Amino acid sequence: PPYTDHEYEGIPMTGMVPKESLDAMKTFEMRDGDVVVLSYPKSGTNWMHQIVHEILGGKPETALPKTLEFFYLHVGQVQPVYAQLQQAPSPRLIWTHLPFQLAPPGLSTPINKVKVIVMLRNPKDVSVSNYYYRQRCQLVNSPQTWEQHAKDFLDGKFVYGDYFDHVLGWWQRKDDPHFLFVKYEDLKKDFPSSVKTISAFLEKELTDEDLARVLTNCSFESMRKDFEEQEGRKEIIRKGIVGDWKDHYSTEESAKLDQKYRERMAGSGLEFEFE
Ligand code: A3P
Repeated sequence: PPYTDHEYEGIPMTGMVPKESLDAMKTFEMRDGDVVVLSYPKSGTNWMHQIVHEILGGKPETALPKTLEFFYLHVGQVQPVYAQLQQAPSPRLIWTHLPFQLAPPGLSTPINKVKVIVMLRNPKDVSVSNYYYRQRCQLVNSPQTWEQHAKDFLDGKFVYGDYFDHVLGWWQRKDDPHFLFVKYEDLKKDFPSSVKTISAFLEKELTDEDLARVLTNCSFESMRKDFEEQEGRKEIIRKGIVGDWKDHYSTEESAKLDQKYRERMAGSGLEFEFE
């Protein structure tokens, strides 16, 4: 890519997200009918995208993620994604990892019929998933060791910024009817009822047959199989469990992150299950 990793308003960004795109966010217009899938990276964004795609009818135009702030959607396409989206017909399915303060105003404070689904996941599993992703992909500067990675994550020296800043930034919208917050751990615990909640939020009636299709096509096994055939996406479907952090975090690393979690989440009403 022609761009390198950089910082934007104090937030570390990959070369895939150039300054030009981030500048353009300030005036990017949202439209009635837009559906947004939003997350801190490695929270299960692809899973939520697949679920929404299936709920919307599984049409080709929503099949591939369109990351608002990215410069390349796929190798070979050099247009900024936001420019493609400006020309795309409604309804648009948009996804983004932008922190609250860098998002288009119509996304952070939506009006009319804009729907935003925020995918959340406990920080320890997010950290582990990011570790493998950083190792495997050239998108992000890879740390040499797990220990370094765990420290980077704790210090918030991370692409898209500190996990807690990101999550709590969007959590400001917890009572806004344009927003639905879904936890990875809840999807794992009760997938059918979570899918029903999501389809109700999107105002899409699902028949029993539709629901069965969504559940089948969004299962870990089915997505693993699909993604295996897609260059650049096969690394994404890795383990898909709650609690993989226990095989990575030392007692000391875990205690430090627990302390930060308690401090940052205090009073927010936001809580996660870790196993
Ligand atoms: P792990 O690395 O812990 O396995 P994102 O899509 O935001 O990059 O998140 C990727 C994480 O979501 C990976 O976590 C991946 O395995 C998990 N994931 C993707 N599809 C899933 C599914 N259908 N069921 C459970 N987890 C899934």
